[in-house]
Amino acid sequence: MERYHIIGNKSLEGEHQLKGAKNAVLPILAATILTGSTSVIENCPDLSDDRTMVAILKEMGCKVTWENGSIIVDSSTLDDYVIPQKHMKEIRSSVFLMGPTLARCGKVSLSYPGGCAIGERPIDIHLYALRLLGVEIKEKDGLLDCSVDRLIGTDIHLPFPSVGATENAMMAAIMAEGETTIYNPAKEPEIVDLQNYLNSCGAEVYGAGSDEIVIKGKRELRDTIYKVIPDRIEGGTFLAAAAATGGSIQLRNAIPAHMSFVINKLREAGCQIIVEKDMVYLKAPDKLKAVKPIETSPYPGFPTDMQSQFMALMTCADGYTLITENIFENRFKHVKELIKMGADIQIEGNTAIVKGVEKLKGAHVKAMDLRGGASLVIAGLAAEGTTIVENICHIDRGYDKFELALSKLGANIKRI
Ligand code: EPZ
Repeated sequence: MERYHIIGNKSLEGEHQLKGAKNAVLPILAATILTGSTSVIENCPDLSDDRTMVAILKEMGCKVTWENGSIIVDSSTLDDYVIPQKHMKEIRSSVFLMGPTLARCGKVSLSYPGGCAIGERPIDIHLYALRLLGVEIKEKDGLLDCSVDRLIGTDIHLPFPSVGATENAMMAAIMAEGETTIYNPAKEPEIVDLQNYLNSCGAEVYGAGSDEIVIKGKRELRDTIYKVIPDRIEGGTFLAAAAATGGSIQLRNAIPAHMSFVINKLREAGCQIIVEKDMVYLKAPDKLKAVKPIETSPYPGFPTDMQSQFMALMTCADGYTLITENIFENRFKHVKELIKMGADIQIEGNTAIVKGVEKLKGAHVKAMDLRGGASLVIAGLAAEGTTIVENICHIDRGYDKFELALSKLGANIKRI
């Protein structure tokens, strides 16, 4: 298994160009199934999750090519409604294929996407929404067999603003007869990006990012060229890395509004931050300050995908920081690894109490999930001495050429 070798205590300085958002590309790749024609998706990062989604589309019969940062999908040749089991285990986001495959083929078969390191991650809300649209779902021995004669538009009140369930419902409703309104939807920027992609193909979807999303069904969809939004979590991760190492960074190709909660918390920690149209500049203080309690919540709240990176930052801040994880039930696996590096963190229920220490020490640690792995890299970059981060395949899922980008900012990090 590959690992990172990091020699820490070097401040990051320089400029980083943000890449396209993984969590926008994945549902949009799934949505290309709806069109039955060709979509050119621009600004795609080269990540293992994206490569897996491409592999799934190919196995379902689509023609897919990847040309300098764009993924080109011709879904006119789709000839299967079974989502390959081996890939279901590799990426949970293959569950996003349910809605579009049902809309296109009238049926879909898949194995239950397993839980992962951060939690059980059930799909009951996805199934609830699809059933409301008229889908019949048979669950047996871990397999889901779904079929529908006619998708009928309806009102869907989500019990929780699940990102994936919102996206699945949006995509299924595209081919429903009549109008569908999704109440209490997820409001993440990636949901708005999916809406904008669908409308670029000729769909009529309104309200993404607000409390109600309206989808007018049965529109003829056509070819499109669509550029996805930048990755706000990659952006937050690089800002946190510069802050943790006492450095400064210019984040280019950013949409600052997508990162406002994290930017405000970094300011509260003492960072000087200048925001322009598509750029965020951060300069770290000599000593970071602890911040008021952080509660992860659905967008526009503090993103759960930034919880572990911000915790790494707070391990050396002056004072106590309380970080509560409200979205996933098992997203503190990075805590014991940070403690190996000298962090002072106690867990009480779903709250981590982080007491700032003077400096972390390099250690041999293990990445257990994508964002937890990123937090260990941040800690290693800031720590005194050498850090080895094992299982960096988790990190490769969400960061494109991570060590190369960090090295350009002055980090001493090697993949071994
Ligand atoms: C998306 O996952 C993201 N993944 C996650 O990013 C992100 O952490 C999450 O949204 C929250 O923002 C992609 O977009 C590919 P949810 P998703 O449905 O759709 C529970 C990363 O690091 N839930 O909003 O799975 C669920 O268990 C990944 O890039 C149900 O109970 O998130 C969780 O506790 C990690 N039933 C909570 O809701 C359901 O049917 C949020 O899940 C669905 C979800």
